[in-house]
Amino acid sequence: MRAQITSVNMTNSVDFRQYGREMVDYIADYLDNIADRPPLSQVEPGYLRKMIPDEAPIYPDKWQDVFADIERVIMPGVTHWHSPHFHSYFPTGNSYAAILGDMLSDAIGCIGFSWISSPACTELEMVTLDWLGKMLQLPDAFLSCAEGGQGGGVIQGTASESTCMALLSAKMRTIRQETALQPDRDQYEIMSKLVAYTSEYAHSSVERASMISSVRMRMLPCDEKHALRGKTLAKAIQEDKAKRLIPTFVCVTLGTTPSCAFDNLEEIGPICKDEGIWLHVDAAYAGTAFICPEFRSLADGVELADSFNFNPHKWMRVNFDCSAMWVRNKTDLEGAFQVDPTYLKHEHEGKVVDYRHWHIPLGRRFRSLKLWFVLRLFGVSQLQQHVRKQVSLAHEFESLVRTDSRFEIVADVVLGLVCFRLKGSDAQNEELLQQINKTGRIFMVGSHLNKQFIIRFAVCSDQTTSQDITFAWNAIMQETDTLLQNGITNMSNGEK
Ligand SMILES: Cc1ncc(COP(=O)(O)O)c(C=O)c1O
Repeated sequence: MRAQITSVNMTNSVDFRQYGREMVDYIADYLDNIADRPPLSQVEPGYLRKMIPDEAPIYPDKWQDVFADIERVIMPGVTHWHSPHFHSYFPTGNSYAAILGDMLSDAIGCIGFSWISSPACTELEMVTLDWLGKMLQLPDAFLSCAEGGQGGGVIQGTASESTCMALLSAKMRTIRQETALQPDRDQYEIMSKLVAYTSEYAHSSVERASMISSVRMRMLPCDEKHALRGKTLAKAIQEDKAKRLIPTFVCVTLGTTPSCAFDNLEEIGPICKDEGIWLHVDAAYAGTAFICPEFRSLADGVELADSFNFNPHKWMRVNFDCSAMWVRNKTDLEGAFQVDPTYLKHEHEGKVVDYRHWHIPLGRRFRSLKLWFVLRLFGVSQLQQHVRKQVSLAHEFESLVRTDSRFEIVADVVLGLVCFRLKGSDAQNEELLQQINKTGRIFMVGSHLNKQFIIRFAVCSDQTTSQDITFAWNAIMQETDTLLQNGITNMSNGEK
């Protein structure tokens, strides 16, 4: 055995065992009692700099002092995403199973850019994404275990990176196709003709992907259910082809961020296939629900997609970051940006997956460990239960809103998100939301739907119960009563 790594204070394994136990206890206490903390941090900008020295310590601090600073310095500035009173954005995953997996990943600390750089890192990722793909009933063409197939899955850091990677790969594929037809054609001239499409309600990361990849993006209008329809896309494609542009990429969203709407994949898929356009599916939040047979039909049409992505780090109990992406043809990714320096070569190249070709960075963590722990320690059945419980809590909240004629529900409640508004002006709704969040009792965010300001209530924490739904509704009603009694005092545009 090698000598223990030692230092003046921490960083030997004896200390680690002791401090590690203290940290595990702290984490368990934190999560057990998280409901007692205000979900939204109440600090002002710049609060933290005043609480710690201007320079890093020259000599090691004591563990006890570092540990004490968690409550003194860090926790006041934490927004508690796992509080049962947190109803903002979409959920972000958390579980002891995933935390344990990440601990091990941190300890192994490998950088799995190629198969040889840590074979388990690559192989576990391939297997867990096959498990996951089967849980979602993705077409066999997406699975790396499929006989003779070209498909496979990869863990990206975020859905944003997945969309970006899909768009960049689509761009390179189109350029290759166009230059194959006309070898003299300049690739920068081709690039200037490419067009991508998505819905007006796609996540901001889709528009950002178009900026990063320098491919123009058309944000197309949606129907009354906030969904992109095939005929709208077909019309846009025809318009662009008439201008000699090259339709290249479509990003369909299953479960949009403003209202959890579902673009019509079954209409859009055949159009993309006929036109030879790369079809990417962003199911960042909603994808987890597809593990439940009763929600799987929401993904119908995925058979025609070139790439599909969802975030186990959103709703599937896996801590950030773990965004699962599958492609039908891995050579589209691998071929997009091939570079091969000598120091990255190894003897098994070509026969194994080298994930460095599948995403933007070179380095990658052993993220499949936390996914594997979650899949094994919950099993599919408990993950399904988690989804079902949160959807049913969302419907409970919806029913409460419907009992009060001052409010309206503004989008179908399909999964764990309820979009509602006070029947009144945008200013009233913005004021109401601000006042509710100020109380520190619950935390929600607003959005725009049909150009109207709406309030989003997402069931996020695995700890949220029916009691918490009632608690949230009472907090909303109380602030509504106050607002409507007092009139609006703080409106920016003077609207009533
Ligand atoms: C539909 C959709 N796509 C993409 C994203 C971005 O996710 P990420 O933070 O993993 O990039 C979100 C985030 O909520 C989302 O709702």
